[in-house]
Amino acid sequence: MRNFLIILSLIVAGISSAVMIGFDVEEIGSDNTYYDDEQEGLDEQITIRFSHVAAENTPKGRTASKFAALLEDKTNGNVKVQIYPNALLYNDANEWEALQNGNVEMIAPATAKISEHYPVWQILDLPFAFPNYQAVEEAYEGEIGEALLEGLNHANVKGLDLWYNGYKQMTNQEYAIRTPDDFSRLHFRTMPGPVIQEQFNQLNTSTSKLSFNKTYQNLEVSFVDGQENTLSNINTKKFYEHQKYLTISNHGYLGYGVLMNQDFWDGLSSSVQESINAAMKEATEWGRRHAIEINDQHARAIRSNQSLEIYTLSAEERAQWEHALHPVYDKAEQTVGSDLMKEIKTIKERYAY
Ligand code: LMR
Repeated sequence: MRNFLIILSLIVAGISSAVMIGFDVEEIGSDNTYYDDEQEGLDEQITIRFSHVAAENTPKGRTASKFAALLEDKTNGNVKVQIYPNALLYNDANEWEALQNGNVEMIAPATAKISEHYPVWQILDLPFAFPNYQAVEEAYEGEIGEALLEGLNHANVKGLDLWYNGYKQMTNQEYAIRTPDDFSRLHFRTMPGPVIQEQFNQLNTSTSKLSFNKTYQNLEVSFVDGQENTLSNINTKKFYEHQKYLTISNHGYLGYGVLMNQDFWDGLSSSVQESINAAMKEATEWGRRHAIEINDQHARAIRSNQSLEIYTLSAEERAQWEHALHPVYDKAEQTVGSDLMKEIKTIKERYAY
């Protein structure tokens, strides 16, 4: 009994002094400087699901892998990016909604697809806007790109960056396309977006808006005669299996807006946000440096495929296309506004063909 009373009095004394001077455990828990989360791996593992529609061996697929590796490295493995290429999770018709609802954290749709939701984005799809790659870079990394990314300020979508693919070319099953008049007897698959639609309207072409990953089947059954795309997309999706003619026209540029779910972003610590920004910057630079070479590799693969007849527009034919497509600019200006339009025209003139 005596021992019991001694133990009891020690416990009571312990509790009272803890109440007076505070529990050490609480102190540690409330002071983050005791921890180094990254070193001790105490951060909860964060997974970013990144859905896109292109193949892995394309500029978008490879830039996404680069971004994933860089981010994992910068966060000591705390942030993992799970990439779902080839529309494995969502296709271009439902990826926007999936991002908004938080069913995925990242997508990277073609700029034309973003212009369905934010019409000002159509500026990047204007035909013959970029006479060379430097012009593309100036638009993507200058005032235009900045304005477009900052403009993504509602719909629970945060714009992270713009990624590169390459120039679009025309393929079809019927005959070699050389002049604007050649389009009027053809039916084309298109991406969504007002400028794309207007481009084909000016060429008097009938069109069907189809998901990227449905294009192959629709070419196969001849529902559409042709489509426009980069050489990396044409090769990786094997469009050449149902297309006889390829016209190298470089008439438009295909690139991407890299987007994140805004709520997800807001819930991240500032150090993770910084790592994402840093990984994104490096991955974008990598993509810019490698996109041309990746498309060139696919061009070589296509050229060694005997079944596709390749025709490159002459300077005179390209001028005819440009002239035929000029009205697309007037229509776009009504939505894009004169300031950005002036900017893109300045870039175009600076690098005129
Ligand atoms: C297309 O739909 O043709 C392209 O946007 C696919 C892609 O994402 O490269």
